[in-house]
Amino acid sequence: MPSAADPKVAERYPRSVALLHWLIAALILVLIALGWFMADIPKGTPARAYYFNLHKSLGLIAALGIAGFIGWRWRHAPPPPPRLARWEARIMAPARVLMYLLLVVVPVSGYVEANFSPYGIRFFGLPLPPWGPDDKRLYFLFNRMHVYSADAFAALLALHAGAALKHWLVNRDRILQRMLPFG
Ligand code: HEM
Repeated sequence: MPSAADPKVAERYPRSVALLHWLIAALILVLIALGWFMADIPKGTPARAYYFNLHKSLGLIAALGIAGFIGWRWRHAPPPPPRLARWEARIMAPARVLMYLLLVVVPVSGYVEANFSPYGIRFFGLPLPPWGPDDKRLYFLFNRMHVYSADAFAALLALHAGAALKHWLVNRDRILQRMLPFG
């Protein structure tokens, strides 16, 4: 990936990339809320099947958006940040790496998990038969990976959004503005 030290780096994220960021963010927040909500629905009920399939369908769309975002980011450096406190500058790169790692691990583990279950995926009603065997151990392994990585992701997102709001309201710099698609 190119770095922000690159001389040809823009001042802000392109509007299309910023729009994609917010679409993915909205989808992921819905997916996290759905994930927490649907886990408590009694097994074997139509409501459980409905919400699980909605979660899987939206998850596949989010995965496509994430692939597009990472594809763009792979070829472009982010706009350089304004002057940051030393501790913030230090944690920025590892926090980004962790964010991208979880952006891949969470959807991939969910997708693989679904394919080791007899239910597979119904993409908004369209059946996508599982390519894996009905293997309870593998299902359990990827299910734990999906659930724990999603919980870690939710915590990281809270820090991410909190940091963006702190820069907007306390530091009053342009970190948030450069990620806005309009204005
Ligand atoms: C909820 C799901 C979200 C995801 C998955 C997400 C993901 C990301 C990623 C991967 C980046 C890094 C882009 C890069 O490498 O340059 C980023 C940057 C950014 N995000 Fe989010 N984000 C989310 C929510 C939010 C929210 C709620 C806010 C604001 C309240 C926000 C504000 C920002 C800002 C200001 C940047 C640019 C900061 C920088 O350049 O380092 N994001 N986001």
